[in-house]
Amino acid sequence: GHRLPALARSHGIDLGVAVAVDPLDRDRRYRGLVEDHYTSVTAENTMKWEHVQPERGEYDWSGPDAVVDFAADNGLGVRGHTMLWHNQQPAWLAEGDWDAEELSAVVHEHVTTVMERYRGRIGAWDVINEPLEDGGPQMRRNLWYEVLGPDYIARTLYSAHAADPDAALYINEFGIESAGPKADALYDLVAGLVERGVPVHGVGFQSHFVHGNVPDDLAEQMRRYTDLGLEVAVSELDVRVDAPVTDEDLREQRQEYHDVLAACLEVEGCVNVTVWGVTDAHSWIPEWFPGTDAALPFDTAYRPKPALSGMVDAL
Ligand code: XIL
Repeated sequence: GHRLPALARSHGIDLGVAVAVDPLDRDRRYRGLVEDHYTSVTAENTMKWEHVQPERGEYDWSGPDAVVDFAADNGLGVRGHTMLWHNQQPAWLAEGDWDAEELSAVVHEHVTTVMERYRGRIGAWDVINEPLEDGGPQMRRNLWYEVLGPDYIARTLYSAHAADPDAALYINEFGIESAGPKADALYDLVAGLVERGVPVHGVGFQSHFVHGNVPDDLAEQMRRYTDLGLEVAVSELDVRVDAPVTDEDLREQRQEYHDVLAACLEVEGCVNVTVWGVTDAHSWIPEWFPGTDAALPFDTAYRPKPALSGMVDAL
């Protein structure tokens, strides 16, 4: 297992993991798994708007600083997550009665303040998260869309680029990992931005997969973007299994983790594969998808699962 960081680096990719601030602070074994197995981190929650700017004009840097400092201390990269999302917004923002001018100033200020603070320390940012409807292909009718119109995406990317010209700016989405109307809609959106010269540099494929239903055309979908000159990442990988979980499920899951990593390695321009949580004890899956479990490469007792070997084999 300890070979993973060296193997990932030998392929020129990062292998990342989503981390939470509390266990990072308190749990030595949790920290150890991150240090020993990964080369980058994403903050699972603490860089989201509700945590960073819980009251208007009042920023809380404690969580984001803890993640960025931990990464620096251990030589890990950081994926910033996330600027504009329809979830985990503070009440003052979500429930505000905004006109376009004021909301656009608020967005510009938030993005500028956060990105400037971590300039040079966060290499890539999910600037736009889940811009399409859950089932696609329409643009999501979120606060930004309703008040600012569809161009909120381009305008926010310009603000982000001005604040940190060296950061790779991503649009992050789910349901785009295999062919279909939603995948095409995101492609059209991104291709349109590229054509206009808008600063967008990458597409994140969230990759919250279901065991037995992991797409086999992930590499093909990624290549559409790298052909545009963009980079891509598997940004939130997990593979959830219907309970009760059997040994056979976990053997098959090993192959699934292998295949996702292999897809990234196959695509020049795929720069990062990030798993969405350190162990099954920390995963969002059991809470958000009741009846499913065991989605990550370490079990609830922090033991490596076959999925971890699947990743080693792919590298
Ligand atoms: C999830 C976190 O894992 C949970 O802890 C939180 O309660 C909800 O958000 N898409 C994303 C991530 O972009 O930010 C989400 O993370 C999972 C879905």
